[in-house]
Amino acid sequence: MADMDGFREATNFASNQLSKMDNFHVKGASNLPWGMKDRLSRIFNPHTGRTVMLAFDHGFIMGPTSGLERIDLNIVPLVQYADCIMCTRGILQTSIPANLNKPVCLRSDAGSTVLTDLNRNVLIDMEDAVRLNASAMAVMFSAGDGDREAITAANLVKAVDLGNRYGIPVMGVTAVGKEMARDARYFALASRVCAENGASIVKTYYCEGFEKIAVTCPVPVVIAGGKKLPEKEALELCFNAINDGAAGVDMGRNVFQSESPAAMIQAVHAVVHDGLTPEQGFEMFQDLSGK
Ligand code: 5RP
Repeated sequence: MADMDGFREATNFASNQLSKMDNFHVKGASNLPWGMKDRLSRIFNPHTGRTVMLAFDHGFIMGPTSGLERIDLNIVPLVQYADCIMCTRGILQTSIPANLNKPVCLRSDAGSTVLTDLNRNVLIDMEDAVRLNASAMAVMFSAGDGDREAITAANLVKAVDLGNRYGIPVMGVTAVGKEMARDARYFALASRVCAENGASIVKTYYCEGFEKIAVTCPVPVVIAGGKKLPEKEALELCFNAINDGAAGVDMGRNVFQSESPAAMIQAVHAVVHDGLTPEQGFEMFQDLSGK
């Protein structure tokens, strides 16, 4: 009898643990293999389910843009405050110390620069993502963008196929054609297409009606910051996005072009993970930047 009770207890324990596993903290990831889940857990904090990704891949399109002239001085000191970094393999290998041990979302497509037509991208060799121990691969999908729509969809699909082979999730980076309005209708379409094609994370832009983008996308949506805003407005953007269903931010210029980048990323982190209001976040920014 005592043996039977012990057995029941063990079985209950096991099934509780299994149902906890089903409640994996990353949206849409419950049925993914262990390696994928492990990588996603490095990006999305298991306690909050959210992430602050620091994006500094801009140089592959823009060259040494403002705030990214010196990765060693401008970016390396900020890495400690991010949950994950997003950059190209060239910057990772030349400028980011491997012993910072930060999860990497590797920019895995490359193409034209700001000097020519954008979005005609090709994929890097996916095995490089394995060699670099990437926690995710970022690949653009450009919806409604002429022949580039098919080129970028093919890149995304290929990245997902190879990512599945190696257990590396893909982040679909949404873009829309020049003629498309940058609104919820097109960003929801682009986000959903990324997820339908197997992306495990989607990066898009915050806009009016963002709830629709988040709710109709079966994987976590993170928002890019876009062009530099005054710090308080950038914190409002983060707060509103989280409130409307974003799972975090993938932010670049609003951090590294801030007058105080270290203070800014810490304030963004507090808004995303600790529920600070924009006002509280801005106060924190001012305190940390010594204003
Ligand atoms: C460009 C990107 C950027 O990394 C992304 O847009 C985030 O940067 P920012 O916050 O400066 O917009 O993917 O393709």
